[in-house]
Order: sequence, then C-alpha cells, then structure tokens
Amino acid sequence: MSTNDQTPPAPPILPKRFHVKSFGCQMNVYDSERMGDVLSQAGMAAADSPDDADVVVLNTCHIREKAAEKLYSDIGRLRQPRADGSRPTIVAAGCVAQAEGAEIAVRAPAVDVIVGPLAYHRLPQLLDQARQQRAIDIDMPPARRVTQASAFLTVQEGCDKFCTFCVVPYTRGPETSRPVADLLQEAEALVARGVKEITLLGQNVNAYHGGLNLAGLIRELAAIDGLKRIRYTTSHPRDMEEDLIRAHAEVEKLMPYLHLPVQSGSSRILKAMNRAHTRESYLASLAQLRAARPDIALSGDFIVGFPGETEADFEDTLSIVRAVGYAAAFSFKYSIRPGTPAATMADQVPEAVKDERLQRLQAVIAGESLAFNRSTIGRRCTVLLERPGRKPGQLIGKTPWLQSAIVSLPGASIGDLVEVDIVGAMPNSVETVPVQPEESAAA
Ligand code: 5AD
Ligand code: SF4
Repeated sequence: MSTNDQTPPAPPILPKRFHVKSFGCQMNVYDSERMGDVLSQAGMAAADSPDDADVVVLNTCHIREKAAEKLYSDIGRLRQPRADGSRPTIVAAGCVAQAEGAEIAVRAPAVDVIVGPLAYHRLPQLLDQARQQRAIDIDMPPARRVTQASAFLTVQEGCDKFCTFCVVPYTRGPETSRPVADLLQEAEALVARGVKEITLLGQNVNAYHGGLNLAGLIRELAAIDGLKRIRYTTSHPRDMEEDLIRAHAEVEKLMPYLHLPVQSGSSRILKAMNRAHTRESYLASLAQLRAARPDIALSGDFIVGFPGETEADFEDTLSIVRAVGYAAAFSFKYSIRPGTPAATMADQVPEAVKDERLQRLQAVIAGESLAFNRSTIGRRCTVLLERPGRKPGQLIGKTPWLQSAIVSLPGASIGDLVEVDIVGAMPNSVETVPVQPEESAAA
C-alpha cells in the first residue's frame, strides 16, 4: 500500500441521475437546492422523478408532522425492486436524519447514506463510500449537543441469525460487539454533556458480548451517576436470557419498555422465517418479563405476506397482537430481498393480499396502542423532556413506557425529569399534569 501523502484522492465513482425530495420548510427546500448543486457539480444530472433516479435523497424536515413516519414510508416504497430489478441508492438527509440518524440506521437497513445538514458538501464522497458500506455523517457541533436529553450508543452491529427474509447478515456482516470499557467511557462522555438517557443500539442488541453480556453492560452503565435512564433496541426473542430479564426487575434505571420483534404469530411461518423461536416460546418469554417487571410495555415488528402465509397464519398474527397488548408495533409487507432464501420460496403472496392484511393488522395495532395509552391513565411517573412543543411553554418528552407526553410546566427545560400524572390518552401520546412539588414530596 502506498503511503505517499501527495497522491490526490481518486475521484469518486458516482451514479448518473439524482432526485432530491423536499419534505418541509423553506430552509429545507433551500437545502435541497444546495444538495442538487453539489451533486450537479460532481457530474450527476437531476431526474424529475424518483423513478428515473439512481440516487434518491429524502430531505426530511422536523417541522412537518409525522416527519419520521413519512421518511420510513418513503424508504419502504423506494426499497421495492423496480421492473428491471434495480433499486435506487437511498439517502436520508435533513433534520430527522440529523436527530434520529442512529435510529434510522437500525430501523431502515435499506438506507445507504445518512447525512446531516452540516455535511451536504460531502455527499459525493458519501455516495462513493456507500458502494462498499453504509455511509453516515451526522456530526453536530459540540454546542448543540449540550441540550440533548437522550442519546443513542451503538454497542453492536451485524447479525448471525439469518432470518430468511432479511439482508442484514449479508450487508452488515457477522455480529460484532464493542468492548465494555469503550462503551462506558463513551457513556460517561455523553452524560458529562448533559445526556440523561442512553439507548443501547444494535441490530441484535441482546446478543451483545463485548466482555460482559447485555445485562452486565446495563448494570455497569447504571452505576454512572448522572445517567437516569437506560433502554436498548432491537432485541431477538432467542437472546432474551434469564439475567437480562432479571435486570428488568432489579435495575431501576432500566426503563420498562422492550422492543421485541416477533414477525409473525404463526409458528409454521416462524419456522419458514428461520426465527428459531415459536409463538409459544415468544409468549413464554413475555410472561417471564411481565413477572419480572409487571408494567413493562412491549413493542414489536411484524411482516405480513411472507411466502406461504395463509389466511389462518395471518389470523394467528392478529391474535398474538391482541394477546400481547402491544404499546406500539411496526408492520411491514413482506418484500423480496434478492439473495435471501425467502426471495425464491414458492407461494409468494399477491400484493393485493399483502395490502389488505397490512391494513387489517395496522387497525388492530392502532387499537392496542390506544388501549395501552388508556391503561396508563392515573399513573404517576417521570417524563424526560426532550424538545419544545408546538405551543409556547410546552415541552415534549417521554414517559418510562416511551409514550410521548406534552408537559406544560413553567421553568422546566429540556433535559429535566419531571414528575407528572397521566390524565388522558391519545393514539400516539398521553396528556399529563405536572405533580405539584409538595404533593410529590408526600407521594
Ligand atoms: N420484508 C419486509 N420487512 C422486512 N423486515 C426486514 N426484512 C424485511 C423484508 N424482506 C422488517 C422486519 C424487521 C424490521 C426492521 O424490518 O420486521 O424486524
Ligand atoms: Fe435480520 Fe433476523 Fe438478524 Fe433481525 S435477527 S437483523 S431480522 S437476520
């Protein structure tokens, strides 16, 4: 390998046509134009529609409602193979990419580049890099980091599970865990900057084995003074081991919420998915978790229309959703990933059937999450304030059960943990009333 510093970097190899989709405000439209300029100067041409583009940039905007949902639904559409089998390179840009880049990285494996507003000039290099592996550039200036209440910490990457529908083991490679010492140091640094809550991230986070297992890592993190809350995502039912379940009972800072995807309620389909768990073993894990932490809120991922899924299999999925009573859940239509075993399975389910099943599933999920929110009315809990609300004086934060809560409390600021009573429930949030200080001291 040459170490000659004088060698100019090789010019990036770039796709030909790009399309930038703006989601929001004037600033966002202006940024889209800037990205267009950068890509044009690098020799690419603008395409009028995403269908004609090799690269699609989704320029997200936090101001718009449901910005994240819109991003994920666009990603879902773009990742579907076109008539010629191709799919565009997907770039997530803008405020949502900046604020939730780590989450996007986990939730949307199809995204090739995640770029924040400060790194748009680097788009050509990032696209070049993305030919090999996902490229992320969402660094913030230090001053803006101070007010962040909740942060993600990537503890492991990759996956060895080989679910038959999933590309992650091929694209992200085998499971690797970061050493405990590095993570503790990073967590300390986050806490020193004012972070109160850390979410441990990984495609298979409960398979973590960086010297300790995940339960051990959580216990070490819980000893950090200024750290108030710990969460982790995404877990696999197979790795829900006894000491992790015990940590939910014993570690007070570990929040009572678990994202534990089941994918299907039919053991026959789970077998075809190579999930290595059954409906019954999944429900048994949940029963153990609930015994350890009775108020634990659960969320999951579901795939409808996996090859061979019958109406009866699908009804098993509806019934598991009702049986568990999820606080939240994400549902997807099965989509073919070339190179994965399920891609060539017989009995692919027609698109119209998938559409119809997805709608029915989402209706049941919406009912369950509203019921969950209603079941929390009357609870007294803390809310970690994370961002300003829409009206002056309002702040938005999260309850221990990851519900969004609007709080109006004069003098409160982002990063505060405030005590509230939950007094009302909406489908995607709860209404709260702050507890008066003298009352909270007596409680
Ligand atoms: N089709 C549909 N959904 C998928 N997921 C992963 N691969 C596919 C696919 N081929 C979903 C799973 C996973 C979530 C992150 O994405 O539900 O848990
Ligand atoms: Fe994909 Fe399955 Fe690994 Fe999750 S556990 S990343 S779905 S292969």
